[in-house]
Amino acid sequence: MRHLIDPMDLTVEEIDRLLKTGDDIIDHPEMYAHICEGKKLATLFYEPSTRTRLSFESAMLSLGGTVLGFSSASSSSATKGETIEDTARVVGCFADIIAMRHPKDGAPLVASQYSPVPIINGGDGGHQHPTQTLADMMSIHRIKGHLDNLTIGLCGDLKFGRTVHSLIAAMSRYENVHFILIAPEELRLPSYVKERFLDKNNIPYTEVECLDDVMPQLDILYMTRIQKERFASEEEYERLKDCYILDPQKLVSAKPDLCILHPLPRVNEITPEVDKDPRACYFKQVFFGKVIRMSLILNLLGLGTLDVNRPCKREKEPIKIDSMVCNNPHCITTIERGLPQMFTETEDHGVYRCAYCEAAQQK
Ligand code: NCD
Repeated sequence: MRHLIDPMDLTVEEIDRLLKTGDDIIDHPEMYAHICEGKKLATLFYEPSTRTRLSFESAMLSLGGTVLGFSSASSSSATKGETIEDTARVVGCFADIIAMRHPKDGAPLVASQYSPVPIINGGDGGHQHPTQTLADMMSIHRIKGHLDNLTIGLCGDLKFGRTVHSLIAAMSRYENVHFILIAPEELRLPSYVKERFLDKNNIPYTEVECLDDVMPQLDILYMTRIQKERFASEEEYERLKDCYILDPQKLVSAKPDLCILHPLPRVNEITPEVDKDPRACYFKQVFFGKVIRMSLILNLLGLGTLDVNRPCKREKEPIKIDSMVCNNPHCITTIERGLPQMFTETEDHGVYRCAYCEAAQQK
């Protein structure tokens, strides 16, 4: 059985297969309309979502399957104190596949350790969002025709923006991809993303604060929302909330074939006038997101070409260290106290990373 928790759970070759199936779904939707008949998808959304949850549900319905689930933690047994572990075991008796979103980093990983059916991470805290990444890659593949040889600008909240973390992970494996990280000092990319995906693979990247300066170089501009709900202080959010606003004026110096993406929802970071620009691709991206989720669901259910028996190993196996406790307030271990404290060793002497949320910690 395979889960999708981290973007690296899929090899480049497997992503290629998912994209090909996605292309085929676009060309021949009728051939897929009944493929999941009799199968059920459960959507366990402990955090608000419109796009991702409905995209999963619409994807399953278009495959002929059915859906069940909840759309907020308050309507689940989480309010009674049920653990993720138990919820995964219970829902695994009702559904054939589960998509889970949770405000805490690492929650879907915990679910995958106990669930009898495949778990798909639909976004965990400020950590990862691998299916949005598949949506982004399907969009780049359809619009640009290739996933290599690209200069990708990622702009906005790179600290808490989980979609950015997953996109960098997945795209860092393609030839000649250069990242330009555009963020204010306070919202820069977390160190684990730089270490694990960029530095380790010698991937070129530049960190800048000014979008205008780099606009002419970009093939892809990935705008993101400032993640209000993940700020410790309202004041800090107020100060940073409008740090980037993309408007037609800013696009004057951009390439004519720039592709502007955004995982949505947008707040202020792209003005509505930009929507008319043919380079604005964020609504097409929503459609491609549904298509790639169809491809993913049928593949994880063993109805496609993905090898569902391939064991998925992390780069480094985590070890249990009882003397250490993860100190990241966003980590799932802060609310599920019974979880074993698991860590992976880093290259830096005495520094470990939590296996659930990847926050660094000194032993
Ligand atoms: C993103 C998310 O939830 O991380 N949205 C999405 O899944 N489409 C981005 C965001 O909330 O800003």
